[in-house]
Amino acid sequence: MPTIPPVIHDVALTAARLRAGELIAVPTETVYGLAGNALDDLVVAKIYAAKNRPDFNPLIVHVPDLHAAMEFAEFSPAANTLAEKFWPGPLTMVLQQRAANKLSRLVTANLPTVAIRIPAHPKMQQLLSALPFPLAAPSANPSGMISPTLPEHVQRYFTADQVSAVLDGGPCAHGLESTIIDLSTDQPVLLRQGAVASAELVAHLPGLREAVKGAAITAPGMLSRHYAPAIPLRLGCDNPRAGEALLAFGPNPPGGFVTICNLSATGDLTEAAANLYHQMHILDRADLYVGIATMPIPAHGLGVAIIDRLSRAAKDSTA
Ligand code: TXA
Ligand code: MG
Repeated sequence: MPTIPPVIHDVALTAARLRAGELIAVPTETVYGLAGNALDDLVVAKIYAAKNRPDFNPLIVHVPDLHAAMEFAEFSPAANTLAEKFWPGPLTMVLQQRAANKLSRLVTANLPTVAIRIPAHPKMQQLLSALPFPLAAPSANPSGMISPTLPEHVQRYFTADQVSAVLDGGPCAHGLESTIIDLSTDQPVLLRQGAVASAELVAHLPGLREAVKGAAITAPGMLSRHYAPAIPLRLGCDNPRAGEALLAFGPNPPGGFVTICNLSATGDLTEAAANLYHQMHILDRADLYVGIATMPIPAHGLGVAIIDRLSRAAKDSTA
């Protein structure tokens, strides 16, 4: 019988387990988050797998303070103003990533931007301050289900091998996700209504444009061409064309390719998700290869998201 994740109370223990690469559900003032090391592709892939997220919609990066935030994001004057007014607190800002930062490419879905916030919950503050890395944390519920505002909600959703524990922080004060604002361009856009009322934001940012009312938030990954390599990409391949590199999956990749990267030699979809963007970047070399051939990926679990990303990349390419 699968066991439920135990509730723990100790921040130092939580930090130690996160350092070991485990996923822990953590309290914030908005909702409980499913947290893991935001610098580690494999840990981030485990978050997507546990949530059964059908896409790689990027995750929010949680940091203890502005100094840490600046390691990962570029702060415009407007971003500085909002940080001063609303952080720590339930506001998430989408900003341009700082060059050569160490964030997992999977946490930002390979976008040039990053969604970042400084939570106010005292236990989450302590935890973030105790860690040498930021935490990726989407709400701690399976995709499409109600966000958790108590440890027992998280326990209902996950087994201990998905989420190794829940750090108890009591009931969430807001019980509603953070407000998300995109400040990565000159035109600030409200991407998600949330715990900070938009009227409050407008007071500090008169130019703020509201996202179309009633419209679903478009996952940034759905619009982006950033998944597409510069060279052509083919799907479902098992035989090479001259000069192609192979993005393989499984124990028996076919021969004849210039270079082979294997997403997972054991056929593990979580490992494959962790390697996806990294290996796409390695193979995206117009100076070395005429194109990238990709092997078939099983269409279950994270395989669905991987296929989605590869299909977009293939469609945008001229192969
Ligand atoms: O209150 C919250 O924000 C909670 C707690 C745990 O912090 N977290 C949360 O995360 O709601 P999540 O993953 O459920 O929502 C993240 C949202 C997604 O809609 C995603 O599309 C958006 O943030 N997002 C993340 N990175 C983005 C980016 N670079 N550009 C635009 N939107 C982004
Ligand atoms: Mg959510």
